[in-house]
Parts: sequence; structure tokens; C-alpha cells
Amino acid sequence: MQTNEFHKPVLLETVLEFLVTDVDGIYFDGTLGGGGYSEAILNKLSKEGRLIATDLDDAAINFSEKKFNNESRITIVKDNFKNIKNILMDLNIEKINGAVVDLGISSYQIDTESEGFSYRFDTDFDLRFDKSKGVPAYEIVNDMEAKELAEIMRTYGEERFAFKIAREIENYIKKKKLRTTKEIVEIVSRVTPRNKLNDTLSRVFQAFRIYVNDELENLKEFLNNSIDVIKSGGRLVVVSYHSLEDRIVKEFFNQNSQECTCPPEYKKCICGKKLRLRKLTKKIITPSEEEKKLNPRSRSAKLRAAEVL
Ligand SMILES: C[S@@+](CC[C@H](N)C(=O)[O-])C[C@H]1O[C@@H](n2cnc3c(N)ncnc32)[C@H](O)[C@@H]1O
Repeated sequence: MQTNEFHKPVLLETVLEFLVTDVDGIYFDGTLGGGGYSEAILNKLSKEGRLIATDLDDAAINFSEKKFNNESRITIVKDNFKNIKNILMDLNIEKINGAVVDLGISSYQIDTESEGFSYRFDTDFDLRFDKSKGVPAYEIVNDMEAKELAEIMRTYGEERFAFKIAREIENYIKKKKLRTTKEIVEIVSRVTPRNKLNDTLSRVFQAFRIYVNDELENLKEFLNNSIDVIKSGGRLVVVSYHSLEDRIVKEFFNQNSQECTCPPEYKKCICGKKLRLRKLTKKIITPSEEEKKLNPRSRSAKLRAAEVL
């Protein structure tokens, strides 16, 4: 399988422009996927450059290990990008020149039955990136009441029919434990108008995926940890696909690119603002119309970049 078949990298040129400032430097690609970004970063680096890349998904790790089989400048680690500090410490790396994460799932994950991320296939309703850790979505659903289920769908999927769907799930699991994507699809179909079904299913699956993988917390931890390990002058680049993720990045960048704003008469800072970043993108960067046409999955991408001070 070619890289582009596994996943077409989004906003690739812009990511490279913001990320790589020193061709001899050390970089971190937190979301290896099909290695689209990693390959382009390595092409830009000199022989001295180095790249550390992580992913939680076995298929992504296996695919990229084969792809970079003859490449000594890359170290591939199966781990959560939120652990960037420990991952680098284990490799005896103190500081790096830049880090990037490209959030969400790859095309391979959406298009492959055994990955279990799509409502188009009948498989376990699992949704974990790393199927060897944590709790699958079906177990979580079987243990929840309608109120909690609705909260997940409303918060992470901004789903209008969240409570209706949640009540239908609760009725179902009172009679029979839920296990498969087909069961979820049937339940959602019962309470959703036919012309809205696909969009609703996308939001429901997205919501449970974000919840199951703790995606928003991973992002927050990654941001906090990464600015401690990026050198002064180094770069932090985030590509997100969901307004909740983008809000986290935006607030983090704002918070860290301002000096303390407490009134001068305060003896101690209570606002917590510290000047640690310089924003490189005043507004979000989105794919061009041409990229969106060539790669419709890039549609909702939003890129923000900052320099560590
Ligand atoms: C959009 S894809 C990345 C595609 C990649 N940039 C490329 O060009 O091929 C996102 C990848 O991030 C991985 N992922 C999601 N959350 C993660 C986390 N917290 N830690 C490590 N990998 C994660 C997913 O398994 C998926 O392979």
C-alpha cells in the first residue's frame, strides 16, 4: 500500500514551513499515521537531523515501520503523544526543535473494517486507537445511563438528538448488552430522520471516539508538556478537525503568548499568564479550495502554529 492510500497528508507544505527551522534539528511527529508528515520532514532534514514519531494504532506503526525500514534518522515509538516528555527522556533527548500533531483518525482507520471506526462496517463498537489498553466503547455504553450517554453525544458530537438517541440506547441495553456497530446503527436509525442519518451517525461515532480515547485531555497534556521540551526558537504546530480541539489550541496559544495581566497593585500573579509562545498564525489556516477538492477529508482542517520563546 502506498502512503497516499493509507492517508493523504493534509496541509503538508504549510506544516513543513512552520515546523522545520533547522535541517540538522530533532523533531517530533506525534501522529505518525501513514508517515505522510514524517516522510516530508525527513526529506527536508540533513543527514544529521532526527525524527521521533509516535502513534497508538498498531496498523499505523506496522505500516510506517516497513515504510521507513531503511531510514536510520527516525525512531518510531508506540505511545501516546501526551507522553512526549517521557518518550524523549527515555531516548536521552533533552530538547527538540519542533513538534507537530495532526489530530483525529487516518483514512486507513476510517476505511478498514477491522479498525472499527466506521458505521459503514459491522464490527465491534470499539473505537480505541490502541486496542490493547483502556475500555472499548461498547463496554462504556453498556454501563451508562441515558443522561451520561446524552452528555457525551452533546459535548463531543454537538448532536441535537443526543437525548433521544441516548434513551433508545438505554432501552436497548436494558434487554440486551450492546456489542456491535450494526446495533448502534440500528438504534440511531430508529430515532433519526433518514436524510439526517449519515451525519448523525458520524457525530455519534466521533463523540464516543473522543470520549473513549480521552482525546481532549491528550491534547491539553501534549501542549503543556511540549513547550517544556521545545528549544527557544523551536516550533509547535497543531492540525485539528473539530471545534473543541481548535478551541483548546487557541486558548493555550493565547494564554501562553501574553504576559501577566494582573493589576500592578497585586503582589502575586493570579491570572497565570506567562510569555512562553509567539503566535505565528493570527488566524487559523485552512486548506485551499484545490486541496479540499482533491482531498475532501481535509475539509475541516485547521492549522495553528507558534514559536517557543
Ligand atoms: C490524521 S492521522 C495522522 C496522519 C499523518 N499526519 C500522515 O500524514 O500520515 C492521526 C493519527 O494519530 C493517531 N493518534 C490519535 N491520537 C493519538 C495519541 N494520543 N497519541 C498517538 N497517536 C495518536 C491515530 O492513530 C492516527 O494514526
